[in-house]
Amino acid sequence: MKYTLFWRMCTVIGVGTVLLFWAIDWLTNHTESSMSFIAQEHQQQLLDYGKEADEIWANEGEEALSVWVKALQEKEQTWVGAVTSNLNPIADSTIYKPFFDRFQYGRSVEWKIHLYFQDNPVMEIPFADANTHLLIELPQRMRPGAMLLYANAMLQIALPLILLCILSLVLYRHVMSPLRKLENVTKSFSAGHYDVRTNASLLERNDELTRLAVTFDKMADRTSKLIYNQRQLLADLSHELRTPLTRIDMAVDFVEQQINPQQALARLRYEASTMRNLVEDTLTLAWLNTESPQLDTEEFDLVELIQVICEDARFEYPDKNLVSTLPEKATLTQSSQIALGQAIENIIRNALRHTPEKSEVEVLLSSTEKGYRLCVKDNGPGVPEHMLGDIFKPFFRVDKARVSKGERIDTSQSTGFGLGLALAHRQIEAVGGTIKAQNYTDVAGQRSGLKIQIELPSSSATAR
Ligand SMILES: Nc1ncnc2c1ncn2[C@@H]1O[C@H](COP(=O)(O)OP(=O)(O)OP(=O)(O)O)[C@@H](O)[C@H]1O
Ligand SMILES: [Mg+2]
Repeated sequence: MKYTLFWRMCTVIGVGTVLLFWAIDWLTNHTESSMSFIAQEHQQQLLDYGKEADEIWANEGEEALSVWVKALQEKEQTWVGAVTSNLNPIADSTIYKPFFDRFQYGRSVEWKIHLYFQDNPVMEIPFADANTHLLIELPQRMRPGAMLLYANAMLQIALPLILLCILSLVLYRHVMSPLRKLENVTKSFSAGHYDVRTNASLLERNDELTRLAVTFDKMADRTSKLIYNQRQLLADLSHELRTPLTRIDMAVDFVEQQINPQQALARLRYEASTMRNLVEDTLTLAWLNTESPQLDTEEFDLVELIQVICEDARFEYPDKNLVSTLPEKATLTQSSQIALGQAIENIIRNALRHTPEKSEVEVLLSSTEKGYRLCVKDNGPGVPEHMLGDIFKPFFRVDKARVSKGERIDTSQSTGFGLGLALAHRQIEAVGGTIKAQNYTDVAGQRSGLKIQIELPSSSATAR
């Protein structure tokens, strides 16, 4: 899903907010209701007042009750009265106007008290004869809900703040922990540990941050490969430069000592041009590696290009038989004539170089569904199967590889640096094509050698 993280956060915030409101509402109601009852000891105190009044009324009469009522009024700083069931005041009780105007009945001590009413309610404690009642406006000291203001402040301000902080912390950790992992990996990578990756650690999340991690890994793969390749290229280049430099040193010595100076100067010129070619090819390869350019600017006829290359090659290798089978026309749009020309030229030259005298090299161009297929087949020794992939690596030469493995081989004939196929590979990739090498043997077993096959899209735009 494209916006997994977004939807996940929406759900958490949405559900969290609804739960928060519900919890606050429930807790407020619950707290308020539990705070609305008169405390047990005060309930008991009121009942005791009722009992005391009842006893005075029964044993000592109305006058004594009147004195007791007045004393209680004094003591609790509130209104106290005694009435009959039909609301006739007794014992000199005064009429308490709010009570008689509004309610005309008292509340039992176990009932809830309305905390939001300013006036204290009038409590009623019936006497044993059920006909007389003690009424007492709830004394302020017994009024419940004194802590209501603090409780409400806690529930409506502190609690939401705490819960929102927890929710934010959960979301923050959910987002930050992978970002921190990514940060550590990035730091490690920039410190030169090119093999670090986020790997599967973020895969199970399957959200936007996973995609970021996958993109980072891809970038790290590409960058580390590039750095490794460039280092390798530099190391190989400096290694390859040693031989011409040694020869140049020797030639300079010969010139200084006037030993065959003309030949030494010719050698100097040759080595200088070899070094120039080597450096130019290496720089081109480095450029193709790092920039991965899309060389797709021209429209040209591939047949014409191959014909020109073949003519030059025939001229250079007159003792070998270069046979080309080409169609009338093979137009490539959005391709690069220079890049393809260099690549094909190197492949045909390789084939001619490795084919014995009087033998044949075959160049075959045919159409395919998406474009064209170019095959170059020679009559040479081919390449050992396990080295077929390596010949596209820079500075790889089969004979050099064999020598480094301890085989005794005559390398005096090998002239190249092992850059041609590496360049050809990148150049063909840059115009949207592919190249592969394989050893072949004709059905009759008459011919065998190396076959290089190139697939080219007629328009590189269609290949991507
Ligand atoms: N047609 C072929 N037959 C046999 N071996 C081949 C053939 N083409 C290439 N190779 C092997 O692959 C190696 C790499 O070829 P590549 O063209 O990259 O380098 P090169 O020809 O040696 O030098 P360069 O092309 O830089 O002048 C060659 O050194 C050779 O060992
Ligand atoms: Mg070559």
